[in-house]
Amino acid sequence: MPSGSRDSFTSKFGIIAAAAGSAVGLGNIWRFPLVTTQNGGGAFLLLYIGFILLIGIPVMLSEFTIGRRAQLNAFGSFKKLAPGTPWYLVGSLGIVTAFAILAFYSTVAGWTLEYLVQSISGKLLHTQDMEKNFADFSTHPYRPLVWQLVFMLLTAVVVYAGIQKGIEKYTKILMPILLVLIIFVAIRAVSLPGAGEGVKYLFVPDWGAVNFKTVLMALGQAAFSLSIGMGTLITYGSYIQKDNNLLKTSAQVALADTSIAILSSLMVIPAIFAFSVGYIDQMSPGPGLVFEVLPNVFKSMSGGIIFAIIFFFLLAVAALTSTISVLEVVVAYLKEELNFSRGKATLIGSVSISVLGVFATMSFGPLAEFQIFGQTIFGLLNYASANIMLTFGALLIVIFVGWRMRKIAFMEEVSNNGELVSIMFKIVFFIIRYIAPVAIGIIAVAALFIKGITG
Ligand code: PHE
Repeated sequence: MPSGSRDSFTSKFGIIAAAAGSAVGLGNIWRFPLVTTQNGGGAFLLLYIGFILLIGIPVMLSEFTIGRRAQLNAFGSFKKLAPGTPWYLVGSLGIVTAFAILAFYSTVAGWTLEYLVQSISGKLLHTQDMEKNFADFSTHPYRPLVWQLVFMLLTAVVVYAGIQKGIEKYTKILMPILLVLIIFVAIRAVSLPGAGEGVKYLFVPDWGAVNFKTVLMALGQAAFSLSIGMGTLITYGSYIQKDNNLLKTSAQVALADTSIAILSSLMVIPAIFAFSVGYIDQMSPGPGLVFEVLPNVFKSMSGGIIFAIIFFFLLAVAALTSTISVLEVVVAYLKEELNFSRGKATLIGSVSISVLGVFATMSFGPLAEFQIFGQTIFGLLNYASANIMLTFGALLIVIFVGWRMRKIAFMEEVSNNGELVSIMFKIVFFIIRYIAPVAIGIIAVAALFIKGITG
């Protein structure tokens, strides 16, 4: 493969930073800690890790394999690898999912910027009523929109700069900073008086809380958190050099994502316990934890202002390295399939997603009453993309690799044309062909009926 013909990642660390950057996001920091504590603590964690190993890594590897083999965007990859068949529709689904995810994700990402500014100005920690503060802001007719658009602009600037000079360059700087800051805040959180209860609550398994829905939730959370199922990793895979060990990369990214999810829990849960025990049981996954409960924690903590600033900064960074990966799915498609320049593709992609995103943001304010199937636009985009589109996407991707691409092509790609030898390749292929489709199939079908499983 002549390098230089296609913009691509230049180093192993760059690939990991970019892919882990995509994986580590709002899903790790505000969703994982809460879902874990509400669903059996250590028991949920064990299930989650099981799914990461059994399903997450195989699906991630499948996506990398498709992308690197085809050297194209998500849509083009299926067209090239399965010409004359309807498989390209899986790519189309990925592009549509990217639109839906980015539209609602940028709403929350925008909020993180407002809270960062409120932390820096000191307003946040002088607020009496955190619930009211959040409600006033999120229902405001234009303030959240401005932040959402600022966030989309930041995303577009990085994507416009390209793979090497944009995505790789920024994630290589931002991901280590993110890791250091999370560790720093987590150490402070677990050393608070009374935090021990929270740590216990987080890790001691409560098998009584585990039921079919919990199992499905663990799988759904694993899929969302690893950014699998919509072609993000197909797109990134197409920028990975031919000598990279894809299985090893997948394992490293999954390890990074899981470690950061656990560290985030240590950052969030013990602190909440130290200051407001009992609260957590009644909370639903959503804005409350990060935008209402945690600000109260920061207020009560000595040096809270510093931690508030660091926390909202790291949340914004985590969101940004995820949003760029979603926008790149659309940009790569527009660029390669419609022959747009990168500039034009970035402009059209980000503007059209922002238009949809504005409606998602307004569904907390002026459009709160506007509901489809009993849900606001934000709720619907969140539910449809994370619960339905991602899981069906992941299902179709493993079926594609296991049954259409077949073993020879898969082996050739993961072993770098025979250069790498490992029994693991065969084992993973077996999982991709038989185990993953069944397991994901169950969740995909169940997700249609049980609300709140993923995302
Ligand atoms: N993995 C991201 C998170 O945990 C979300 C995401 C999903 C990003 C799908 C890209 C694609 O926040």
